[in-house]
Amino acid sequence: MDFEKVLQVLSARAAQSNHPQEVLRAPEIKTLYDHIKTLPNDERGAFGKRVNELKKSLEVVIEVRRQELDKVDLPPIDVTAPMDINAPQPELLPSEQGTIHPLSAEIERISDIFNRMGFVTEESREIDDQFHMFESLNFPKGHPARDDYDTFMTEETDANGDRLIAPAHTSTMQNRVLKKYRGNLANGEAIAAIVPDRVFRNEDLDARHEHTFYQVEGVYVAKGVNVGNLIATLQEFLQEYYGKKLDVRVNPFYFPFTEPSFEFALSCPFCEGKNPDCKVCSGEGWIELLGCGMIHPNVLQAADIDPNEYTGFAFGCGIDRLVMMKYGIEDVRHFESGKLDFLEQF
Ligand code: PHE
Repeated sequence: MDFEKVLQVLSARAAQSNHPQEVLRAPEIKTLYDHIKTLPNDERGAFGKRVNELKKSLEVVIEVRRQELDKVDLPPIDVTAPMDINAPQPELLPSEQGTIHPLSAEIERISDIFNRMGFVTEESREIDDQFHMFESLNFPKGHPARDDYDTFMTEETDANGDRLIAPAHTSTMQNRVLKKYRGNLANGEAIAAIVPDRVFRNEDLDARHEHTFYQVEGVYVAKGVNVGNLIATLQEFLQEYYGKKLDVRVNPFYFPFTEPSFEFALSCPFCEGKNPDCKVCSGEGWIELLGCGMIHPNVLQAADIDPNEYTGFAFGCGIDRLVMMKYGIEDVRHFESGKLDFLEQF
C-alpha cells in the first residue's frame, strides 16, 4: 500500500474542494480500511496506525482549505466617502455558505406530494389555547388523556383563565382547518388539508425523543369517507415519499379525537424485516410512524359539521422520524443541534 501516494492524491483533492471534509469518506480510505481485515492479526495494529496517521495529515489539509473557503475578500469601506447611489450592489457570499435545513427540505417534499393528491397546506402556531389543543378535540376538562401529551404550559392565561400551551401536536389545528374549509362540503367538495409544523413536548431526551419536533397533520372530510380511504391515502403517500413499495401494519389504538383510532407502522425500509441486527427498527422489521383514525363525531360537531352527513379521517405523522428513516439518521437530536458537519450533508 502506497500511503504517500494516497495522501498526495487526497490532499490535492481536498485543497481544491468546496467540501474538503468529504475526502475523509473517499473510496481510497475505505479501501485501506477494507485491507485491514485481510491482514494477519499481528500486522493489523501497525497498519491501522498508519491509516490513522494518514487521516490526521489529511485533516490538517482540510482545515487549511476550510479556512481558505471561510475567508471572504471584502474591499475596505471608506466611511468618510459621500454616498454614491449608483454604487454596485455589495457582493453576496458564495451560496455554499448556507444549506437548506434537511427538515425544511423534506417538509417541502411532503407538502408537494400531498398537494398533488389534492390537499392544501396550512401552518400551525407555536402558542395555542386549551380549546384548540384539547376541548375541540374531545378531551373535556379533567380527561386523563390530557396527561399523555407532556404539554408545556405558559404562566399566562387566556380569557377563560386557562393557561396557554406550546402545542404538543398539530391536531391543535384540526378545529380551525375544519371551520376554514367547511364551505367546501356544501359545494360537494372535500375538506382536504395538511399541516406540517413544529410541536413541543416535555420529553426525556434521547436518540429518539426531542422536546421540539415536527409533525404533519392530515384532515380529510367528505361524504362516505371510510377507513379504507385513510389507509390507502397514507400508503400512497409513504410509497411516493420513499420511492418504493412498502408494507404497512395497522394496529388499534386510542385517541379521544378519532374513533376508531389506529397506530400505523411501516415495514422497515432499510432491512425490510430481514436483518435481526438492524439499528433502525431494532430488528423488529416494523417502525411505528403515526397515529390516525376516523374523526370523532364530537370533533366534527365542534366545527359545526353534521357527523350524520359527513365522515372523515385524520392522521398525525412524526416528520423527524420519517426523515431519519429516509437518510439513516441515527439520532433525532442532530436536527436541532446546529452542527454544521451534520447540516452540510444535505
Ligand atoms: N395527534 C396525535 C399525536 O400526536 C396523532 C393523531 C393525529 C392521531 C390525528 C389521530 C389523528 O399523538
